[in-house]
Amino acid sequence: MTPDLMEAGAQRLEAHTARAEVGKTESGGRAATYGRIATPGEVDVTHGRILYLEDVHVSFDGFKAINGLNLDIAPGELRCIIGPNGAGKTTMMDIITGKTRPDSGTVFFGSTIDLLRHNEPEIAQLGIGRKFQKPTVFEQLTVFENLELALKTDKRVRPSMVFHLDSAQQDRLAEVLRTIHLAEHVERPAGLLSHGQKQWLEIGMLLMQEPKLLLLDEPVAGMTDEETARTAELFLTLKGRHSLMVVEHDMHFIRAIAGDTGTVTVLAEGSVLAQGPLDTVQADERVIEVYLGR
Ligand SMILES: Nc1ncnc2c1ncn2[C@@H]1O[C@H](COP(=O)(O)OP(=O)(O)OP(=O)(O)O)[C@@H](O)[C@H]1O
Ligand SMILES: [Mg+2]
Repeated sequence: MTPDLMEAGAQRLEAHTARAEVGKTESGGRAATYGRIATPGEVDVTHGRILYLEDVHVSFDGFKAINGLNLDIAPGELRCIIGPNGAGKTTMMDIITGKTRPDSGTVFFGSTIDLLRHNEPEIAQLGIGRKFQKPTVFEQLTVFENLELALKTDKRVRPSMVFHLDSAQQDRLAEVLRTIHLAEHVERPAGLLSHGQKQWLEIGMLLMQEPKLLLLDEPVAGMTDEETARTAELFLTLKGRHSLMVVEHDMHFIRAIAGDTGTVTVLAEGSVLAQGPLDTVQADERVIEVYLGR
């Protein structure tokens, strides 16, 4: 979830318990960030890449968490990222989303947007959505309200004191509800959903903002086998319409979403150790070695 969304959610919760304060709280909170950057244009993918990282380095107190990382993702691709604990997978997402600044290297969104020149909320607004491992939906709000909230914090939508969904937004909300399998639970408080349903709701909240690139960090951790299988189906429906980068340790899930031909990138010690179809990387001696330990 984006920092803006969390902030707006906190405001929405206040509003929920004190309806009289709705206008004041929400418009007051949002005004500060509205209009700070221009509405983003399309991402230029003429070079066939929506994301491009070259020779990226980050050290924490001398420890090289990211060490000469090169990686690119094609538009509409579903890229799987695997690797042992501490390989730098989450740190890579922190760099792409502006949470962590690299010490050196290049990070581009499409061929023209230098992400190192943008801060975290700007990067979210440019069309990069991120899902952290823990679901961060607003438990007291309904499924509908959570999705509506995601639209309200979308800065491409014109701010107003009273928020009404226009028909295109209603259509989008209905489509997202179907995509995340929560149409039957639209009026349920999010706190009553299962862990898996909360994860889908949060993905739905990201989808409401129509991200071009979605970064998902361990999306099926803690899910039941059935929820994991449904999440794999969900990601396969998103592929093509969005570009996705999925970090996961669950190899059954990786198998389901990568299929025989999808590209799997293995990170180890802050750089790419191997890359290719799952069968190929799993048979790679170096990959076996980092997973088994030396
Ligand atoms: N802000 C930070 N300060 C200091 N060290 C950090 C920081 N962020 C990450 N690290 C270190 O960088 C290394 C890479 O961490 P990261 O969280 O990116 O690994 P990961 O591949 O996501 O691992 P996991 O599979 O366990 O989630 C780890 O050794 C971690 O302790
Ligand atoms: Mg991690």
